[in-house]
Amino acid sequence: MRIRSLAPPDWDQLAELIYSSLSVWYRTRLNMEKFGAEAEPFRVFPELYEALDPGCCVVAEDEASGRLAGSIFYHPRETHWAVGIVNTNPDFGERGVARALMQHVLALADAAGKPVRLVSSAMNLDSFSLYTRLGFVPCMTFQDLKLEVPAAGMPPVGESGLMLRRALPEDAERIADFELRLNGIRRSHDWRHFIRNEQQCWHLWIAERADGSLAGFLGAVAHPASQMVGPGVCEDESAAIVLLHRVLDETFRGRGVVWLAPVHCAALVRQCYAWGARNVELHLASVHGAAPPMKGITFPTFMPETG
Ligand SMILES: CC(C)(COP(=O)(O)OP(=O)(O)OC[C@H]1O[C@@H](n2cnc3c(N)ncnc32)[C@H](O)[C@@H]1OP(=O)(O)O)[C@@H](O)C(=O)NCCC(=O)NCCS
Repeated sequence: MRIRSLAPPDWDQLAELIYSSLSVWYRTRLNMEKFGAEAEPFRVFPELYEALDPGCCVVAEDEASGRLAGSIFYHPRETHWAVGIVNTNPDFGERGVARALMQHVLALADAAGKPVRLVSSAMNLDSFSLYTRLGFVPCMTFQDLKLEVPAAGMPPVGESGLMLRRALPEDAERIADFELRLNGIRRSHDWRHFIRNEQQCWHLWIAERADGSLAGFLGAVAHPASQMVGPGVCEDESAAIVLLHRVLDETFRGRGVVWLAPVHCAALVRQCYAWGARNVELHLASVHGAAPPMKGITFPTFMPETG
């Protein structure tokens, strides 16, 4: 098995690998069909991730056949590195491919002196075992909520006293500082990338108090192949509720969308249920190395998996 960087001619084969890895795993382990019939939409990963973090995908190539056996994307940031998405071709499963790719990235992060963070399914004992055997420690649990947002818009939500608006270039550093204060991580690169929005799929909102201080921020990706709310962090659940409401209402009318809510945030979860959201999976945020406490109301996402 040869470990090397992803190259542009690999993109179609990589999309096929990610598609078959996810669809075979969910079909055989959970009896779920949730990834459609085509691999082509999974080009979203190299397309969006190579724009965000160029050169940060490593693949395992089977030297005998030249086929891709596995892949891993990683995201170097100021305070940490993040990992995701990780996939093994089902034809090469349970042979140490994912472990070798993870160890490769862990060694790079270690050389850079950074802890590594990821979000993985709590319904997937294969990935849970892979990561915890490598020393990752789960530190927060999330429920994945799915909602078909009404075409006419979301029902009104109570008054919060916060002012909501789209983030501007001058907000990127204060968003990064806000997340650092609440969750101990910083990723200003993401916020600049969202605000520049060169792919026309990124959204980023902030909530401010009357004195101009930040109460929260929340992003979203709205791409034909990926619709998801997050990443975001809020100081309290009322800010989380109004920001989530605004993002759903402005960006996802008439569409189905998923977000991850911390299971311990009872008011937020109650509001999600009141809107009609349904649980579709559970996820764990895990850290390898120093894990600062996550004091904010946190919305991770699978696109981009940078926190
Ligand atoms: C999860 C996935 C990446 C694992 O890939 P893989 O190449 O088969 O995994 P590996 O063989 O490298 O490693 C699996 C490790 O978990 C261990 N393991 C598996 N099941 C286990 C269990 N129930 N208890 C303890 N350990 C277990 C294996 O022993 C192995 O550890 P070892 O190498 O230290 O012995 C693969 O199943 C996949 O692509 N799934 C679909 C996509 C996905 O879920 N990606 C992860 C997204 S977060």
